[in-house]
Amino acid sequence: MKKIIVLVLIVLAFAQCKKNSKQEIQNKKGLGFLADSAMVVSAREEASKIGSLIMQNGGNAFDAMIATDLALTVAYPFAGNIGGGGFMVYRTNDGKTGALDYREKAPLAASKDMYLDENGNIIEGKSTIGAMAVGVPGTIDGLFKVHEKFGTIPFSKLIQPAIELANKGVIVTKKQAERLNKYRHLFTETNPEKIILDADWKEGDTIKYPNLAKTFDRIKTEGRDGFYKGETAEMLVNYVQKLGGIITKEDLEKYESQWRSPIEFTYKDLKIISMSPPSSGGICNAQIFKALEPFSIASFGHNSIEAIQLITEAERRAYADRSYYLGDPDFVKTPIETLISNEYVQERMKDFSWDKATLSSSIKHGNIIGYESDETTHYSIVDSFGNAVSVTTTLNGAYGSKVYVSEGGFFLNNEMDDFSSKPGVPNMFGLIGAEANSIAPEKRMLSSMTPTIVEKNNKLFMIVGSPGGSTIITSVMQTILNVYEFDLGMQEAVDAPRFHHQWLPDVVTLEPKGFEKVLIEKLQEKGYNINLENSRILGKVDAILVLPNGKLEGGADYRGDDKAVGF
Ligand code: GLY
Repeated sequence: MKKIIVLVLIVLAFAQCKKNSKQEIQNKKGLGFLADSAMVVSAREEASKIGSLIMQNGGNAFDAMIATDLALTVAYPFAGNIGGGGFMVYRTNDGKTGALDYREKAPLAASKDMYLDENGNIIEGKSTIGAMAVGVPGTIDGLFKVHEKFGTIPFSKLIQPAIELANKGVIVTKKQAERLNKYRHLFTETNPEKIILDADWKEGDTIKYPNLAKTFDRIKTEGRDGFYKGETAEMLVNYVQKLGGIITKEDLEKYESQWRSPIEFTYKDLKIISMSPPSSGGICNAQIFKALEPFSIASFGHNSIEAIQLITEAERRAYADRSYYLGDPDFVKTPIETLISNEYVQERMKDFSWDKATLSSSIKHGNIIGYESDETTHYSIVDSFGNAVSVTTTLNGAYGSKVYVSEGGFFLNNEMDDFSSKPGVPNMFGLIGAEANSIAPEKRMLSSMTPTIVEKNNKLFMIVGSPGGSTIITSVMQTILNVYEFDLGMQEAVDAPRFHHQWLPDVVTLEPKGFEKVLIEKLQEKGYNINLENSRILGKVDAILVLPNGKLEGGADYRGDDKAVGF
């Protein structure tokens, strides 16, 4: 009897402890923005407002996507773009799902060794800064593909708010001023003539983009050709070639985005719909969730030592497979079915031990027969008809290659760095690649972008995604777990501290101030390398949760200027 009482007391104390930790997070940030029927959560209030207004005027989530995306090019040039690419995952109100791949492609003149010197060594910076780093942009083609299939409002009306915003100007926030001033020297080094963003910015300043407004005007009148042909194409190609790049008019004319089947898998009673290759997001997360599924992770507690251990070990194995198997599905065959199968994942987890960290040096990809990195941006949308859209789009690095087509008013990406320039040598996110992700003309580079939609009991449950390079996958996964396993609200789940492991380097990165010293020491005792010196923000999640009463709760990440807007 005494034993039973002691046991009950322990359970109660544990439950109280869990409640307290949830309470702490709740008190810190609180409930997210609530809306009755429609919402946009994006990196800037201006863009969220524009998307929401489109829906208030009768447009659907796809119309809102187009308007939000274009508005982000103006309000968030850090990652919002027409000179980059992205992925969209959707779920229509009748439960149909799909995905659009408007990822950049390698130019026709690209070659496997284009970033290596005569000794076969990587030429520092060639794939990250300047014109050689630029992939053929996919964004505008992607937006027209979406409009063709789902749009209900004329494209000219969807682009108009972005034209007006570009002419009127955007007010600089504190965080934006800091970012612009931080990267300013690279704008100067990359572009021979001073660009519009090359100034000493202060919070409250206004930036106008008249040349971008003119590019939008050409797209408004000429459609897709307003970007891929004629004046804009001429400006882009001339400037890239003047700076030593290899993109041609033929590259632009030939670019085409692709409809793809998303990766769909179950986790307990959730169905998770996420991006398929050329993104690694869906496959990696399927592997991680499948590795966690046999455990009662909720009972370990949020960000407890056991939860961190288990998730880290699942991540380690998934990222090892990522580096070996994944690449552009139009070029390489990936054993997707096997990689995300329960049997395969459980086999991979067989050597996991609660006592000691597995060394990444002892892990390779499975055998199947047959850092500051918030540069991308994500937005989530639900409309009042029940359609949901999850979009992650990027220039890759902050302001991409820093190549700014001044005449056209836009930055170009440095997405070529997402290829594996040389097997075994890490890219800017520390990710290692292999043959599957080597460079070839017209091939798409592997991505970590993970736009995701979650169903519970066959109903729409959550729309979620994040920037953050290699940390995107783990930020999305932890946000879903925070809600589903640890009972946090949407805003709390987004705000909760995150951690990350990606196989190599063999290091667990923890967000600053988010984790107790004792917990860190215990992990170190078990053999986990904890990176405290490079502790940094991980991801910047924008998400929407459908509450049991049908209302929507936004999770707009406090790590940026992100904002939920809706009605
Ligand atoms: N450029 C970041 C990614 O696609 O993963």
